[in-house]
This record gives sequence, C-alpha cells and structure tokens, in this order.
Amino acid sequence: MQDFQGRTAFVTGAASGIGRGLVRALLDQGANVMLADVEEEALKTTMAELASADNRIDSVVCDVADAAAVQAAAQRTFDRFGNVHVVCNNAGIGAGGMIEDVKPETWQWIIGVNLMGVVHGIQAFLPHMKAHGEASHIVNTASIAGMLTMPGMGPYCATKFAVVAMTEVLASELAGSSIGASVLCPLWVSTRIFESDRNRPSDLRSAVPEKFDPHRRAEVTELIKNGMDPAEVAARVLDGIRANRVHIFTHRETEAMTKGRFDGIMDAFGAISG
Ligand SMILES: NC(=O)c1ccc[n+]([C@@H]2O[C@H](COP(=O)([O-])OP(=O)(O)OC[C@H]3O[C@@H](n4cnc5c(N)ncnc54)[C@H](O)[C@@H]3O)[C@@H](O)[C@H]2O)c1
Repeated sequence: MQDFQGRTAFVTGAASGIGRGLVRALLDQGANVMLADVEEEALKTTMAELASADNRIDSVVCDVADAAAVQAAAQRTFDRFGNVHVVCNNAGIGAGGMIEDVKPETWQWIIGVNLMGVVHGIQAFLPHMKAHGEASHIVNTASIAGMLTMPGMGPYCATKFAVVAMTEVLASELAGSSIGASVLCPLWVSTRIFESDRNRPSDLRSAVPEKFDPHRRAEVTELIKNGMDPAEVAARVLDGIRANRVHIFTHRETEAMTKGRFDGIMDAFGAISG
C-alpha cells in the first residue's frame, strides 16, 4: 500500500501515545480515521484536538479485549466511511512483576488486551479487506519486548512475543495478496504506558498487587519520559507499510540487543554436535 489519500484507517488505543501519533500521521496523509479506545474522556479530548479534520475522523469507545465490541466498532467504521484499508491494532497495556508473583487477574487482563485485542482486530477486519480487494495493511503493535526478554516483564513479553509470532504467520498467510501485515517493535516511547492501570477493569484488579522494584520503577519512568516522540514512531510505521515490511523497528540501539539474543540461540545449537 503506497498512498493513504482518501483511504480509511481504524486505530485502537487512539486516544493516547503511539495510537494518537498514528492517527495524526494518517490524517496528515489524507486518510479518514476511526479512533477506537476504551477511555472515553481521553477519546473526547483527542477528537477535540483534531477538530480541524472533523469530516475525516470519528470515534468509538471500544474495549479490544471484547470480541463483540471490536466487531461492533468495525461495523460502525464501515457504515461511516465504507471500505477500510489500514487497521492498527495498537491498544496495549503494561503490567507484570516477577513470574512467581503475577496474579491470574493480571494474566487475564494483559492477555485479553495485548494478545486477544490484536486477534479481535484481525478477525473483525480481514474478511472485509479480502472482500473489497483494494490495497490494505494490518499493523499490530508489539514491542521490542516481543524480541527480547527482561526480568519482571514476563506477562508483557509473553503477549508481545505472541503478537510478533502471529503477525509473521499472518504475513505469510497473506503473501501475494493485496493485504500486507506488519508488527511494530519499539523500545521506549514517550507515552502513558506506565500508567496503564488507569484502564484496568475493576473485576481484574488483584487484592494484593504484584511487587515492582521501586528503583526499577523510577528508572523506567525516566526512560519513558525521555522516550521517542510518538510522531517519529508513526512516521516509521507509514514507511513500513509503504515498503510492506513485516518487522518495523524504531530504535537503532535495539539492533545489537536483538542480534545478541539470536547469537545466544545459535550458540546453543552448537551443543547438539558437542
Ligand atoms: N511506550 C512505550 O515505550 C512502548 C514501547 C513498545 C511498545 N509499546 C506498545 O504501544 C502500544 C500503545 O501504547 P502507548 O505506549 O501509546 O501507551 P498509552 O497508555 O499512552 O496508550 C495506550 C492506549 O490504549 C488504550 N487502551 C488500553 N486498554 C484498552 C482496551 N482494553 N481497549 C481499547 N483501548 C485500550 C488506552 O486508553 C490508551 O489510550 C501498546 O501496545 C504498548 O504495549 C509501547
């Protein structure tokens, strides 16, 4: 897909951070955009900020963990704009702790949003994209935590590795068709990801929250605050769509880190021959 002018995009997690950056970039390129988010007030604020594009934007409150809600949001998008060409399954949350500590509620929340949210987006839009047959693209937001593992991030890494794997499979299933698939793998981006608990459903709150090392918390807060501008991430995504690149990386320093992981894996094969 090369040209976004007059095309329609659906973006989840659109009311903040990377999602809002994607919305702005797509609007700048002349697309219509449906903004989907679970946070109603933030969605209203974002819509107000984008008021100058009012005939090309609309919004829908939607919890991506709920398959029926995503199907309904997709239908609203078709009714409002017609054919949809870009789907950004971007909504995600950060939650975790040491694996022995992570509560079932936390696993359910993070798998529901970070993994099933992406599945629901694909299933709601892919049949429609196949039916209209025009050039289209699905972008799933994972993280560099879908390539690399870190202590205390078990549930996050598990869901993001799954999104990378699923997108690679999807890209191979769509090879040769008019539809591309990419997975976005950024390192730190300046967003509200570290305040994800604001969106945790009350029935998935644990009575005893997981422990998180206060020093690490302060460190990560600082890394996110000084992270990449979502606008720069969004520009890389649009570039990745145009190039039909399966993996979209944003931070040069993650290249060596990723190579280190794969080098370690390749070394382990050496043990077979002794
Ligand atoms: N910020 C980073 O450093 C970073 C790095 C790598 C990957 N990511 C990924 O980027 C994506 C976007 O996160 P962000 O960093 O912009 O954080 P953010 O918190 O600023 O934005 C996330 C948005 O998703 C929405 N959301 C949360 N749960 C939802 C649900 N159940 N249904 C619908 N919307 C929901 C939130 O309301 C929010 O608007 C996530 O998938 C995250 O894992 C972020």
